[in-house]
Amino acid sequence: MKLYFATGNRHKYEEASRVLAEYGVELVQLTRVPKLEIQSSSLAEIALTAARAAYLELGEPLIVEDAGLYIEALNGFPGPYSSYVYKTLGCRGILKLLEGVKRRDAYFESAVAAVIPPYEEVFVARVRGIIAREPRGGEGFGFDPIFVPRGDERTFAEMGLEEKNRYSHRARALRMLGEWLRSRKIKRAQL
Ligand code: IMP
Repeated sequence: MKLYFATGNRHKYEEASRVLAEYGVELVQLTRVPKLEIQSSSLAEIALTAARAAYLELGEPLIVEDAGLYIEALNGFPGPYSSYVYKTLGCRGILKLLEGVKRRDAYFESAVAAVIPPYEEVFVARVRGIIAREPRGGEGFGFDPIFVPRGDERTFAEMGLEEKNRYSHRARALRMLGEWLRSRKIKRAQL
């Protein structure tokens, strides 16, 4: 079973292909379709709009994923603006905003939108954790060096891909997709 993943992010693709392989899905990275990014406070809406646009270009069953980091002491910032904030402030900038802040709770949210005609589905999942005091680790991408998932003491950037997939927002949303594909018995006929 073959499914396209429209993303320019190699890390996301690697994480996702590992999870979906558990469900017998062969994920193919699609980099040539530019992601249509609307402004919305809902990651699900952003991902679904991008997935529909990508489907119009490609005409093959595909998924798009959108994610964000929500920091409680900052009232959920950067949330849907995570990509821009990562580019402008980075991990160091976030740590600066949290200087002297004791409550460091945060969560990552992932929305995976699938367009597999005649179906359209969005799967949303979270992982809760805290923002570390300093960046640690060299694996992964984005805010991985400053996010410690609940149940562990290491940041995502201190974990291998398999370990991050045990906790991550993205892996959870993708497992929901995997279960849905299984329950719908979506096999080669549709894909
Ligand atoms: P995107 O718009 O889905 O690419 O995600 C927005 C931003 O959130 C990215 O630029 C990353 O900085 C951050 N982000 C999303 N998912 C992760 C993750 O799994 N680890 C670390 N940072 C992430």
